[in-house]
Amino acid sequence: MSYEIDMGGKVAVVTGAAQGIGAAIAEKLTQAGAQTVILDVCQEEQVQELLDKTEKTGKRAGYRQCDISKEEKVKQVFEEIAGTYGRVDILVNNAGVVADWNTSYQVNALGTYYCSEAARPYLEKTKGNIVILTSASVFSGGTGIPQYVTTKAGSYALTRFLAREYARLGIRVNGIAPAVVMSKMLATRFGSEEAAREHYKSVMPLGRMGEPEDIASVALFLASDMASYLCGEVLIADGGRMHIG
Ligand SMILES: NC(=O)c1ccc[n+]([C@@H]2O[C@H](COP(=O)([O-])OP(=O)(O)OC[C@H]3O[C@@H](n4cnc5c(N)ncnc54)[C@H](O)[C@@H]3O)[C@@H](O)[C@H]2O)c1
Repeated sequence: MSYEIDMGGKVAVVTGAAQGIGAAIAEKLTQAGAQTVILDVCQEEQVQELLDKTEKTGKRAGYRQCDISKEEKVKQVFEEIAGTYGRVDILVNNAGVVADWNTSYQVNALGTYYCSEAARPYLEKTKGNIVILTSASVFSGGTGIPQYVTTKAGSYALTRFLAREYARLGIRVNGIAPAVVMSKMLATRFGSEEAAREHYKSVMPLGRMGEPEDIASVALFLASDMASYLCGEVLIADGGRMHIG
């Protein structure tokens, strides 16, 4: 007997999914059968390639331009998405920034809260769930960027807070704490993707750095019924670095 994750009939909203981990999550959810809606700050033209890609493996993803740090706009967008697609089953709070203190707080902490609150009434109807992207750096204090670590600790704390608040509504909330996953920022820091991969070969217990797809698989699991008894859990997805590195 084999198992499969079937997200058919579900509507999933993924924030900050124009690129990187969010894009991989949107693709993975689409492949599993969900109607995915991507929220990001960029112009729709910039995500056409990604939207085309989703159409090849499942239902074409929708796109809504939205700055998640703007509370009113976020509310409107979720209302509109629920109206257009009829429901919301999954919210992946993936959008995150490395920026100044204020912007980091606005996006990493407040934006996560705004999206969760805006999605809550719809998720309550579907008994849906939320996945929040925090960071392993909140445990290690790594990255050397205090405003990033501090505000990602905010999204970690929100995972527990929202899990506690929403559990009685039938909404599960869980988190993922990744470390060193290939991104434009890391590629830029090391000069190229290959240079970054080479650097982390000897650093990571599994002998390689993370790829967005690694994190997308964890997100798909948490968003699925396979994780039906997980609530308030934060999975450390770091190739073993924290525990055995
Ligand atoms: N890449 C890593 O090594 C790593 C490690 C730990 C945690 N994370 C977390 O994973 C998530 C994704 O990381 P990534 O590396 O793919 O990032 P990324 O920078 O590649 O992508 C982030 C996306 O968020 C969008 N975004 C930024 N501000 C926004 C806003 N106000 N409203 C809506 N969208 C906005 C960006 O346009 C971008 O598309 C982030 O929350 C990050 O903190 C990443």
